[in-house]
Amino acid sequence: MSQAVANIAHLSVPNIKPVVIQNVEDAERVRVGDSYSVLCAHGLPNSEYAVRGGITEAWFPVIGRPHTDPELGVRDTHLHCDERFMTDHLLHLLVSNYYPTILDDMIPVLWIPPLETGTAPLMGRQVLQCVREFPRRACINSGGARCHPGTMDQMRKLEEQYGDKKIGDCRVCPHRGTSLAQVAPDEHGVITCPAHLMRWELKSGKLLRRY
Ligand code: FES
Repeated sequence: MSQAVANIAHLSVPNIKPVVIQNVEDAERVRVGDSYSVLCAHGLPNSEYAVRGGITEAWFPVIGRPHTDPELGVRDTHLHCDERFMTDHLLHLLVSNYYPTILDDMIPVLWIPPLETGTAPLMGRQVLQCVREFPRRACINSGGARCHPGTMDQMRKLEEQYGDKKIGDCRVCPHRGTSLAQVAPDEHGVITCPAHLMRWELKSGKLLRRY
């Protein structure tokens, strides 16, 4: 063996821990800064920002299933986006018209073909970095120009409808089945569903009505 080959053979390999990218649904706790395999839907951005950039489609991280919310006045099929994995760029692609108030005011959703057409959105997994925790909004459309009595009225009716429901041990929102397992409780032990913002008391599992 030549001296050069012998040197290479004795090089010590540093003990680097391989990075394991796990499905975000399986993670016990999602940490800001870490990367996960996240369920995404392929969809059409609907913002000025996307039009200006010539972007016609993109992958968006999503939570829950495609649905409509007729009780909230939303009859178009949509998916809720997982804001924990949305960079400013992704948020812009969806809602640049409202940005930067989005994190306080708007819930980013991806509009998809109507359920009755039977055309399911293209789904896939992407490795994305967690950039924030779920935003804790105080109230649906609260405090901004888009706060209108109609919305509050719909929310009141929704809370009436679910007033006797509980989230149970597996922490699933009884409204549309959104998982609340990774939603951190606030200082009062209350978790807010990231989909339509109903609030649930962690200890009792009961709905905390706003209206
Ligand atoms: S899924 Fe609608 S409030 Fe939770």
